Amino acid sequence: MSDSDSNAGPPPKKLFIKTYGCQMNVYDSERMAESLGTQGYVTTDVAADADMILLNTCHIREKAAEKMYSELGRLKPLKADKPDLKIGVAGCVAQAEGAEIIRRQPMVDLVVGPQSYHRLPAMEQAVARGEKALDTDFPEDDKFDTLKSRSKAKRGPTAFLTVQEGCDKFCAFCVVPYTRGAEFSRPADRIIREAHELVEAGVREITLLGQNVNAYHGHAGGLAGLIWDLDKVDGLKRIRFTTSHPNDMDDALIDAHGTCDKLMPYLHLPVQSGSDKVLKAMNRKHTRDQYFALIERIRAARPDLLLSGDFIVGFPGETEADFEDTMDLVRTVGYGQAYSFKYSTRPGTPAAERAQVDEDVKLERLHRLQALLGDQQRAIQASMIGRTVKVLFEKKGRESGQMIGKSEYLHAVFADTTDVAIGDLRKVKIVKSESNSLGGEIC
Ligand code: SAH
Ligand code: SF4
Ligand code: F3S
Repeated sequence: MSDSDSNAGPPPKKLFIKTYGCQMNVYDSERMAESLGTQGYVTTDVAADADMILLNTCHIREKAAEKMYSELGRLKPLKADKPDLKIGVAGCVAQAEGAEIIRRQPMVDLVVGPQSYHRLPAMEQAVARGEKALDTDFPEDDKFDTLKSRSKAKRGPTAFLTVQEGCDKFCAFCVVPYTRGAEFSRPADRIIREAHELVEAGVREITLLGQNVNAYHGHAGGLAGLIWDLDKVDGLKRIRFTTSHPNDMDDALIDAHGTCDKLMPYLHLPVQSGSDKVLKAMNRKHTRDQYFALIERIRAARPDLLLSGDFIVGFPGETEADFEDTMDLVRTVGYGQAYSFKYSTRPGTPAAERAQVDEDVKLERLHRLQALLGDQQRAIQASMIGRTVKVLFEKKGRESGQMIGKSEYLHAVFADTTDVAIGDLRKVKIVKSESNSLGGEIC
């Protein structure tokens, strides 16, 4: 390095993060990158350029840990080429496996759980000294307090914002209460401040995140109270939230769907099964009729709301008749979008100990359910043709002159146009429906 260059300080170190799992991991990856920014790191999209690689992992379904170990195996040649490369594991597998990860794969330098990543700067310093760093505590201190303000760098028009974390519901199939810990709600004033920071950086749409986001209690008015406060944030055009539990949909939140213009008409409300027997065995604490009644109330408040859900097939004890109850529930409700999974045994959860449904039976049921959900999705997309929606444009399309964004209903919409910029909110008339998107013309 020449003398004149030395004033510029050391070149930034590069951080590559690979994110698996849910939206909360996407948010956490952003916060981890910002946190390591204080240690001189900037992010890169190229793993081979990195000085540190972090895998932000998910533990929700089978083979999660095995997938992570094989991913680590694939990183071995990089580490061999560049001995100073630091490798870390974050997220829910880090929480579940802890020190075992370093024992099984000694090239890992750092293991950090989802509740401890505000301690990353100190962990990075330890790693830089050649030590191993492990932190999978559920600390008393609020990690969000330590993380402070968001980066001021210009960013795209949509962002996630975690408002609630953890889960006390203990569904019999699920690892989240063990990996993310007890329910915790962030104070409303901090969330509002973060929303302002995001809007200043260019954000127009915020999706509030929580494992049970509608159990949020950091505002006297619950999640609805928080949404109404966010409604007042100038420059913020759209609000969404995910994931909700049916038992936490209170009147104020249902009402907000009918009265708050910024709250988008889309709701992800997983039911998992349509059989009362299976719902009980899953510890979901509501019946199918209670779910139907809830959907009716929500649709009365907002008739055009697009409903999304999660389903598990082949839960222990699920018979063909139980599965038919799920198919019937889907036919009755009608989903614009849905995620469906084969039940996967998770060590340490109650359902893992029960008699299991055969793999081929699970697979055959999954195919039948996905065919039905696919038909519903296509029908609802086709029903949009001829309608005018509002699209928040997020990026350029693959073809030149094409822009892509999302409608109120979270449909991806593309339009051929040269006078729309990223971040613009424009009326679009839908003219065609393709497999996972709609095509439209700017009005
Ligand atoms: N908090 C959310 C969901 C979190 S996990 C809720 O209460 O609905 C996301 C989805 O993964 C779940 O809705 C469920 O459908 C699926 N899932 C969770 N554990 C699973 C398991 N063991 N096997 C298969 N799918 C599972
Ligand atoms: Fe898991 Fe159930 Fe909690 Fe959702 S509500 S995170 S499915 S335990
Ligand atoms: Fe996966 Fe953890 Fe999210 S297990 S789904 S990354 S909360």
